[in-house]
Amino acid sequence: THHPKHSFPTRRSSDLFKRGWRKVNREEMMQLFKNEYGVDNREIKTFLSPGRVNLIGEHIDYNGGFVFPGALTVGIYAALSLRDDNKIRMRSKNVAGEVIVNLDEELVYKKEDDWGNYPKGVMKALKDLGHEVPGMDIVLYSNIPDGAGLSSSAALEVLMAYIILYLENPEQIDRVEVSKLCQKVENEFVGVNCGIMDQFAVAVGKKDHAILLDCASLYYEYAPLNLGDYSLVIMSTNKRRELADSKYNERRAECEKALEIINENKTEKLENLCQATLEDIESFIKDETIKKRAIHVVTENERVKNSMEMLKANDILGFGKLLTASHMSLENDYEVTGLHLDTLVHEALKIEGCIGARMTGAGFGGCAIALVDNAKVEEFKEKVSVAYKEVTEITPSFYTSNIGEGTHVLN
Ligand code: GLA
Repeated sequence: THHPKHSFPTRRSSDLFKRGWRKVNREEMMQLFKNEYGVDNREIKTFLSPGRVNLIGEHIDYNGGFVFPGALTVGIYAALSLRDDNKIRMRSKNVAGEVIVNLDEELVYKKEDDWGNYPKGVMKALKDLGHEVPGMDIVLYSNIPDGAGLSSSAALEVLMAYIILYLENPEQIDRVEVSKLCQKVENEFVGVNCGIMDQFAVAVGKKDHAILLDCASLYYEYAPLNLGDYSLVIMSTNKRRELADSKYNERRAECEKALEIINENKTEKLENLCQATLEDIESFIKDETIKKRAIHVVTENERVKNSMEMLKANDILGFGKLLTASHMSLENDYEVTGLHLDTLVHEALKIEGCIGARMTGAGFGGCAIALVDNAKVEEFKEKVSVAYKEVTEITPSFYTSNIGEGTHVLN
């Protein structure tokens, strides 16, 4: 079964952006819980599940190569209390309405449950594995706008999995397993054929570190993100991703086709497209579109490896150039950018002090990132904002990001 992707949250996300992605603390979440469900003497637990940003390695996870994401310091917050029965009530500060799950019944995808399907899918998956899912009242608050390409869906899935496993035994949460389970929920319950990157970054993220993840083996390393005199600026097109799901699946199919063609010609079969060489692509793939897609994948995977080398050598300028090269490849060969992302990135690159920029996430709208000289960040935002608005009639938003912890208890 394939269901259209439901967004979370659906209302007021643009004003949240304007308010600057304000961080929320435990006290505010407790207050929110009390406002929603009334004051009683139940213990309230609070959690934060971050969004993610991918530094480089785009459309690589489902091709078995390397990606380089990190968790954000903002995301989806939860406050909850246990109930005596087998009901889960979920509310969100960002959207009206309530989702009620009866744990004694079979948990199935329901269109009217909208964003509630993500946590519901996770509850079902964990129940099926024999975990205890207790009744509870939950209120959520998100400060990552949906459709921004910062993985609010992965944040929500991992949040629910983390909560259930935390309530069972906080000492025994296997974060890699959590990310695999959540990806499976998104693929099978929600019906979006995403790779592992988003759920992995959200679950396994570490403060001030990016994660170098080999998507074929799930072997990973944390790399301290020392950008020296530069800041990582996240720039939102404030344009919702459009057609993202159908185009995403189309790209996946094109990559499968490329691998199939190469393997028809080789005696030693490749396991994934990232194992191909440019020579394989040139000699075996005749279709120009399929060829371009494969070239992006193979060169992008190289750029991730080179990025690690550059960062180890403190060559931030070199890293910036790789970010820009990644964008050009996504624009020209993989063709997942579009007017809004291209305008934002090209305008950013014109500004003095910006040493590299690229789209991040699936593409077709959402966010881009830029490396900008610390001293020039404010000027950068103003200039890019004016130039972008002139072309698109939309005001972009900016967020100077730190890399945060994966899903955790909020103290
Ligand atoms: C989306 C998917 C990820 C990944 C990126 C592109 O975010 O959910 O699995 O494929 O697009 O890199």
